[in-house]
Order: sequence, then structure tokens, then C-alpha cells
Amino acid sequence: MEINRIGLLTSGGDAPGMNSAIRAVVRTACINKLETLGIRRGYNGLINGDVTEMGYRDVRGLNHMGGTILYTARSPEFQTEEGVAKAAKTCKYLGIDAIICIGGDGTFRGALDLAKHGIPSVGIPATIDNDIACTNYTIGFDTACNTAIEAIDKLRDTMHSHERCSLVEVMGHRAGHLAVYVGISVGANAILVPERPYDFEKDIADRIRKSRIQGRTHFDIIVAEGVGDIHQIANHIREETGLDPRVTILGHVQRGGTPTARDRVTAARMGRHAVELLLEGRFNRVVSIKDGHLQDFDIEEALSMKKDLQETMVETARILSTG
Ligand code: F6P
Repeated sequence: MEINRIGLLTSGGDAPGMNSAIRAVVRTACINKLETLGIRRGYNGLINGDVTEMGYRDVRGLNHMGGTILYTARSPEFQTEEGVAKAAKTCKYLGIDAIICIGGDGTFRGALDLAKHGIPSVGIPATIDNDIACTNYTIGFDTACNTAIEAIDKLRDTMHSHERCSLVEVMGHRAGHLAVYVGISVGANAILVPERPYDFEKDIADRIRKSRIQGRTHFDIIVAEGVGDIHQIANHIREETGLDPRVTILGHVQRGGTPTARDRVTAARMGRHAVELLLEGRFNRVVSIKDGHLQDFDIEEALSMKKDLQETMVETARILSTG
């Protein structure tokens, strides 16, 4: 099957670096004489034919911009059989031969549905959660880590002055990758992640006690959003330790901002690779990066894979955070 026109969309939660991926796809396509139709608002745009032609110059000056110029959405309609059929029909009507979709696992599930309707695709992993199993790294993770670290460094100043206990919730959906990286980076006293159930006495109270004995008067605890109600944990700390904790939920600020070099370069490499896969006739793949090298996996296989936290990271966090 020959590819002449590709459709390009971003879907799910946005991630810094998505724009660099868009730029890389459009430019690689242009150089190889392929047309690109940008699809606005994720799969909703595919259902409604909300598209724009994108050429080499349309993606100038994008690398420093957070967010996604194509807009993004989570599309309930696309989760229905009728929605997918409508989207496939739009592709055929617009002459879209294949889709490149940038996003997380929900986005790739959508791509798989389209493949079942005869529309081939390639997925580029972009989510601040870094929770895609087939790849070591997802676009946006590094920028989100740095945004969270910058905020927590500021919080630390005031927590130190007031000798308080700070609990900070970071995003991550059901995964703790962001929490572990951020926690290690800020030297947190405790890092709570959904993948490793915690024991209040051992993992929180005891660590605070030991730190106090060593003269520490402020405490930083990083909680991944998937762990549960951070206010309940704060109340428990208040009751058990007599400290006066403060809760900060960093929220969507973690999704914005100028992408770091790592996110820009990863996006550039992955974007180029995605187009080259289509040119080689290798369809329904997810681009991946492992040990610094680009790879790709069958979408179905990629979606069936499971990703755990790296045990050495968890261990490093535990060893370095006791005092
Ligand atoms: O997947 C990215 C993410 O930011 C998660 O970390 C978070 O759980 C979710 O999206 C929030 O989604 P929304 O922007 O729809 O509230």
C-alpha cells in the first residue's frame, strides 16, 4: 500500500515536546514528498473532518512551545464502534492513507481500532506519566519532572522557615515514575507510589522520627496522584507526629512549559522515525526508545506490555531518603 497523505493528530493529555514531534513529522513527510493533514482536537477532529494542510514552513518556530498546536481531546465518541467507523470514513473521504498519532496508551488503543477499519497508523509516545511499557521514555516526562522540581525547591524555602512538613502531590495517573524521579531530585524524606503499597509507620512516621533525631525540622513527602487522598495522609501525619503538614497539589502546571532539550530531541527523533516507518510500509507500530536507540513495536503487542518502576530507582530513593 502506497502512502501519499498522512493524517497527524495529538490526543489525550498534552505533553511538552508534542510540538517538536509535530514539526519533525511534517518536515520529514515534506522532504519525502508526502502530504500532511493536521487533525485538530484528537480523534474528535477525525470524526468531524476538522483538518488543516501542514507544510514545511507551517511548523516553523515550534520547538520552544509547550502544549500542542493541533489541540488535544479525550473523545468519548471515538470509544464507540460508530465513532471509529465515522473516523475511518472521514479518512477515506479526505484521502488520508495513514495516521500518525501522538499521545499515550489511550491514543494507541484508538489507533488499533482504526487499524481494524483498514486505516494504518504509527504511534509516538508522549505523556508526562512515562507509563508506556514498550519504551523507556515518553516525550514530556523530563520537562514535567523539572517543572515539579522547580516548584518543590521553592516550597522547600518556606517549609524550612516554618519548620513544617510538606506533602506534594505530583501527577502520573496510575504510575509513580514522575514521583520517583522528582522525589530523588529534591531529596524527599518519603516517596509514595501506587506500585508499592506503603506502611504508614515504617515509610512515613519512622522516617520523620529518624530525621528529627538527626536535627531536621522540615520534611518533604512526595505523593503520586495514584496513591489516593493526600489530605488523609496529611491528617494521619498530624495525628501521629504533632506536626502541622501543608498539602500542595501541583496539578496541570506540570503539563505546561517550554520543553527541555531531552524532550525536543526525543520528539525530533521519534517524529522522523514514525514517518520512515510508513514509508517502509511498516504499519501499526509504536515508536520506542530503549537504551538511547530507536525501536518500534506492533501496537497490539505494545499495549499488552506492562511497565513497573525500575527497582534500582526505588531502592536509590529509599536509601537516600532516610535522614
Ligand atoms: O496522562 C497525563 C495526565 O496528566 C495524568 O498524569 C493525569 O492523571 C491526567 O492526565 C489528568 O487528565 P486531565 O487533564 O483530563 O484532568
